[in-house]
Amino acid sequence: MTTAARTAPISDIKDAKLAAEGRRRTEWAERSMPVLRQIRDRFTRERPLAGRRLSACLHVTTETANLAVTLQAGGADVALCASNPLSTQDDVAAHLVRDHGIKVFAIKGEDHVTYYEHLRAALAHRPDVTMDDGADLVGALHMIALNRLDDLAPPVRQWVETLPAAERKALVAAVIGSTEETTTGVIRLKAMARDGVLQFPVVAVNDSDTKHLFDNRYGTGQSTLDGILRATNLLIAGSTVVVAGYGWCGRGFAMRARGAGATVVVTEIDPLKALEAQMDGYRVAPMAEAARVGDVFVTLTGNINVIRLEHMRAMKDGAVLANSGHFNVEIDLEGLKQAAQGPTRVREFVEEWRLDGKRIFVLADGRLINLAAAEGHPASVMDMSFANQALAAEFVVQQAKQLTKDVHRIPRELDAEIARLKLQAMGVTVDTLTPEQQKYLASWEMGT
Ligand SMILES: NC(=O)c1ccc[n+]([C@@H]2O[C@H](COP(=O)([O-])OP(=O)(O)OC[C@H]3O[C@@H](n4cnc5c(N)ncnc54)[C@H](O)[C@@H]3O)[C@@H](O)[C@H]2O)c1
Repeated sequence: MTTAARTAPISDIKDAKLAAEGRRRTEWAERSMPVLRQIRDRFTRERPLAGRRLSACLHVTTETANLAVTLQAGGADVALCASNPLSTQDDVAAHLVRDHGIKVFAIKGEDHVTYYEHLRAALAHRPDVTMDDGADLVGALHMIALNRLDDLAPPVRQWVETLPAAERKALVAAVIGSTEETTTGVIRLKAMARDGVLQFPVVAVNDSDTKHLFDNRYGTGQSTLDGILRATNLLIAGSTVVVAGYGWCGRGFAMRARGAGATVVVTEIDPLKALEAQMDGYRVAPMAEAARVGDVFVTLTGNINVIRLEHMRAMKDGAVLANSGHFNVEIDLEGLKQAAQGPTRVREFVEEWRLDGKRIFVLADGRLINLAAAEGHPASVMDMSFANQALAAEFVVQQAKQLTKDVHRIPRELDAEIARLKLQAMGVTVDTLTPEQQKYLASWEMGT
């Protein structure tokens, strides 16, 4: 483990003294999470997760703290590790350990080895329910199940090698189900289900409408811009922003960049999304063309090497590159490292590279810019995402015996209920169908 302070043998965090600030900020976030609060109240009464050991690999933010406390209120024994080395808020980690006795293994800026040490600690909690943002826990459990130990990161592999075969088996067999937060994780899990290797049922939280329509679009849209601004303090008005990927996240960010006064260029590989971007009023171009005109480039695709060396060579002096997709693979940083001089750190989250005599600035090592340089999504949107997570955990526990080893979504009624509660909390009322309208919509005989 790191040399950072250890506050308790069952946690590894930066500094316990940060707890009071973490508590204040977590309470601030809670004010904007009325749906999760209602679920917490019910969980406190009903204890649907009683006796469950739950390991979560999530961004350790104020919103996640509110989720962790909700799961604990439901009766779960919770262990939490980070789903990204840069996204941990150290004060929040300290608060969860000190004020709630939750086991937390996360330190902002942790190196690769420590990141996986922490993942190992979450596995060593021996969960029967897991919760992922990017499928790292489930991925490791499957490498163990399939005896592909060479594919595990060394800290996890070395620990697994000390376990007798029966214990390794038991570690995987104990998991009755899992939940997954993000698009990239869901894509991986669906690939596992397709290949027939999925060992337990998984609930794709991202597939809920009250998740991807809001978190990915409005959450990522706002917080990605926030991250870029905090990292650089650039003026967006009058600049050209290139948005790679026009999915839920890309749509949200393009909308906010335009709102801030940028000329937005979208790159896509899907003709339908490209057409949508064009009709939404953006310029659509291949990256090779966009590279020449962009001032700021943001990748939100979930894909690999979307901005490559050939694109960087075509960029203007001073181009700024950031990523808001799940993994730090969307910008070819390896290629840049081979061909360019640097890096020189010019601000906290800004590194300058010299390529063919021009400067290229990479933000936050190409990791999720909104979580590295800002605070991730605002609490109000995470309210819905984490309401889904809490209900998904309950669903897994209630339905474990009936669910097949596949990727499921929470029932649509629960998704709709989250939307209803959110509207209620916002003070918005909507119409309901009249009996006549219900009949009309259900009939095929009634015409003009
Ligand atoms: N930053 C955050 O906080 C945050 C939040 C939610 C999701 N995510 C992550 O963001 C990524 C995108 O998520 P999403 O929900 O928008 O997914 P999505 O599937 O809705 O959109 C991805 C888009 O990228 C396009 N694409 C793929 N390869 C491309 C390429 N080479 N060039 C241009 N476009 C390409 C796809 O056609 C698609 O339209 C995922 O990795 C997801 O896990 C990040």
